[in-house]
Amino acid sequence: MDTPNKLILNYNDIPAMPNVMVKALNVIKDEGSGLNDLADVMCYDQALTTQVLKLVNSAYYGFAQQITSIGKALPLLGMDQAKNIIITFAMKPMLTARGGKAMWEHSIRTAVGCEHLAKEFKLMDSSDAFVIGFLHDIGKIVLNVKNPVVYRKIEEFVNKGANVLDVENMFFGTNHSDVGFLLAKKWQLPVVVNNAIKYHHNPQNSSMANFAYIVYVADKLAQDKKKPIELDEEIMKNSNIQIDNPEAYKETIHNKAAVLLASLAR
Ligand SMILES: [Fe+2]
Ligand SMILES: [Fe+2]
Repeated sequence: MDTPNKLILNYNDIPAMPNVMVKALNVIKDEGSGLNDLADVMCYDQALTTQVLKLVNSAYYGFAQQITSIGKALPLLGMDQAKNIIITFAMKPMLTARGGKAMWEHSIRTAVGCEHLAKEFKLMDSSDAFVIGFLHDIGKIVLNVKNPVVYRKIEEFVNKGANVLDVENMFFGTNHSDVGFLLAKKWQLPVVVNNAIKYHHNPQNSSMANFAYIVYVADKLAQDKKKPIELDEEIMKNSNIQIDNPEAYKETIHNKAAVLLASLAR
């Protein structure tokens, strides 16, 4: 294979955080604010309001009564769940525009997987785990926007069995873990999120290994149903997540994610 001319990625290639996400995260960070302030932010975005109401009335949440307003939905969801829903909907256009259905589904499955593992192994807050899982491959979107033709070529190599980070490094001189880390820093996301994105393929190198391992394992379990689960023994040696029946976990995560994906698609 010829060595390609490396594409140079600039700081400006990292997209800005979607507006509604900026506003919502600011409200959530502000200790003096509450659910009413968050409802105010959400009400300005009619599309978001409609989507959130559809979701809270879906099978994924299974609330007994019909929820007709954001003001009623938020107390039922609580701040953490509300935050996850806003991030999910705010990021959907960016993820689907460049990564298509496959990227969207993989992000949701990994998010559900992280949430599930975080609850099971009690290694971190499950709501933070959802966000980390959802955003773990966001760097791929940045590389894809920089050069979609080259990124398609990278995907072809990966489908033939090449290591994704190696091929990305070859074409871009960087990879989606490092680019995702830069994005998370630019967006001022919590340090655990930045760190887990950076180390999701090499959790053993992380200073916050529990978080990185959750994403590493969830990412593997979120792969296509037909693909075998590729948990590297050498990498898993130092993990606090020891599972003897990964197939059963994979099945549970895929089933849970299927309900969420169906509810999000309505
Ligand atoms: Fe990845
Ligand atoms: Fe992934």
